[in-house]
Amino acid sequence: MRIALIGYGKMGREIEKIALDRKHEIVSIIDISNPEDFDSQGFLSAEAAIEFSQPQSAFDNYQKCFERNVPVVAGTTGWLSRLDEVKKNCETCNKTFFYASNFSIGVNIFFAVNRYLAKIMNNFPGYEVSMEEIHHIHKLDSPSGTGITLAEGILENIDRKTQWKEATEGLPTDLLIHSKREGEVPGIHEIFYESEADTISIKHDAKSRKGFALGAVLAAEFVKGKKGFFTMKDMLDF
Ligand SMILES: NC(=O)c1ccc[n+]([C@@H]2O[C@H](COP(=O)([O-])OP(=O)(O)OC[C@H]3O[C@@H](n4cnc5c(N)ncnc54)[C@H](O)[C@@H]3O)[C@@H](O)[C@H]2O)c1
Repeated sequence: MRIALIGYGKMGREIEKIALDRKHEIVSIIDISNPEDFDSQGFLSAEAAIEFSQPQSAFDNYQKCFERNVPVVAGTTGWLSRLDEVKKNCETCNKTFFYASNFSIGVNIFFAVNRYLAKIMNNFPGYEVSMEEIHHIHKLDSPSGTGITLAEGILENIDRKTQWKEATEGLPTDLLIHSKREGEVPGIHEIFYESEADTISIKHDAKSRKGFALGAVLAAEFVKGKKGFFTMKDMLDF
């Protein structure tokens, strides 16, 4: 299929490789210096645009895609305060939008395990839950989008926790998230349940960006010919 890339950084380049391997055509590459290419023939011919740019630019880029009727696969994190606006624009104007805080299939399996474990732990108040997320030093948002999705999965299932907080201390009702930024780490997320007797932890450790990039290309293939707002739950049938 014909794919446009918006944001040609670490993720954009990885997605390009995987899209070409899967025999897709890259019809346009837009980064910060060539926004005029939103009106290029290549971009207008795209069957999906895959957007991995920066938190401050993501929303405007989505609007530009909607205005040009190009379906969006959105990977940028750190813009979620505007999610409802995007959903509304997508649904009322009959556009196509696929968002995942994390496109990796492995991470999405981890999300499901996280929700299941939290459901069990709701009945065991002796276990204190917390999260650690580690990413490379270039990451702009904190906690990570993946960390927020994991936190939401815990808050939905554990009644004794009412909100997440990025801190080392808080109220008993706070789910504490420790965010660390180290070297070139692609992404590590670990959830701890600690009691006086033991610790149970579940961990996802991304070996590279390949898993995210493959998931984004699979999402572009999934939205082809579809209208509406989609997430990984629509694409993966757990
Ligand atoms: N959803 C996921 O699975 C997933 C996985 C990895 C990274 N991410 C997120 O994707 C985003 C990009 O990550 P990255 O590692 O590729 O970052 P990066 O810094 O390597 O690349 C970002 C690129 O966006 C470009 N850019 C800046 N402003 C732009 C604009 N207005 N229009 C178009 N391009 C613009 C930059 O010049 C740069 O080339 C981040 O928000 C990151 O958190 C999401």
